[in-house]
Amino acid sequence: MATPWIPRMHLWEIDDQPWFPSFLRNYVQIGLTHAWTTHLPLLQSGSPATLVAAILRRVLGASVSRHTYIDFCAGAGGPTPFIERALNQQLSNSTTSSTAPSYAAVADPKTASATAVDFVLTDLHPNVESWEEASKKSDHLSYVARPVDASAAPAELLHQYGKENKNGKGIFRLFNLAFHHFDDNLARAILKNTLETSEGFGIFELQERTLSGFTTCILFGFFILLIAPILYWWNPLRLLFIYPLPVVPFVLVFDGLISSLRTRTADEVEALLRTCGADCDGWEIKSGRERFLWPCGYLNWVICTKKSALP
Ligand SMILES: C[S@@+](CC[C@H](N)C(=O)[O-])C[C@H]1O[C@@H](n2cnc3c(N)ncnc32)[C@H](O)[C@@H]1O
Repeated sequence: MATPWIPRMHLWEIDDQPWFPSFLRNYVQIGLTHAWTTHLPLLQSGSPATLVAAILRRVLGASVSRHTYIDFCAGAGGPTPFIERALNQQLSNSTTSSTAPSYAAVADPKTASATAVDFVLTDLHPNVESWEEASKKSDHLSYVARPVDASAAPAELLHQYGKENKNGKGIFRLFNLAFHHFDDNLARAILKNTLETSEGFGIFELQERTLSGFTTCILFGFFILLIAPILYWWNPLRLLFIYPLPVVPFVLVFDGLISSLRTRTADEVEALLRTCGADCDGWEIKSGRERFLWPCGYLNWVICTKKSALP
């Protein structure tokens, strides 16, 4: 993250409040998915979800295929189904461009996708309906229907996808637009559980504590107002909460600004990692900031991997 303008503040977001109606929460979460998946041709080189896939591939290098990616805070799905598609597309392109297909791959098409990676959607509050829909579109996307707490990953999940499973891949946790939700105590508990049970994790945030971060949140509200008729012309109820009663754009902008104030720099994440109570000596931390929207939208990422998981 660029140098923050103000200290981190753990204020509350409307979308987190138990009194906020669940159908409106669903509309807001779908709005967040648009933020991840929209590609505005002149202003963006690709969608932020595609950018995350490219970052994972670039930063993890050859070890990118040695993980199963578990989204621990998937919400309505967010970018993960799109990251899955983009990453597997990139892996498949690199396999086909670097080598001629083997005889075995031609004989058995399943072998051709041997480098493909699997993604799993989980959350403390599972959104099974949305995940079911998304997972029907890919053999490499599945979900866990029961609640999963990121600070205490259940043994069955670790057994199914952890190092000891039959494909020998380790767990890489994804926190998309989620890590800023945790206060310091919960963040430490989640990092401790992550270090003890995973081979790596990635934190991806679309906002930051800077003037450009705040500006991007406000622009996003205008963007929803502009694009809603194209996306939701068939759904008058949703349009009702965008125009005459603009609850959805208001919550997206308000929560976006609060999220910006809650977002940690890479140094702040590292400080939590070092004090979380688990041994982080064998771990490597990398971070970066990449523009996803001209001129002011920046994606901030932190990727941490166990050194033994690197090639
Ligand atoms: C803003 S949503 C992020 C949704 C999605 N990743 C996206 O980018 O659109 C944050 C999610 O974190 C989940 N969450 C909060 N605390 C959690 C915990 N301890 N374990 C697992 N999920 C948690 C919430 O249920 C919520 O769905």
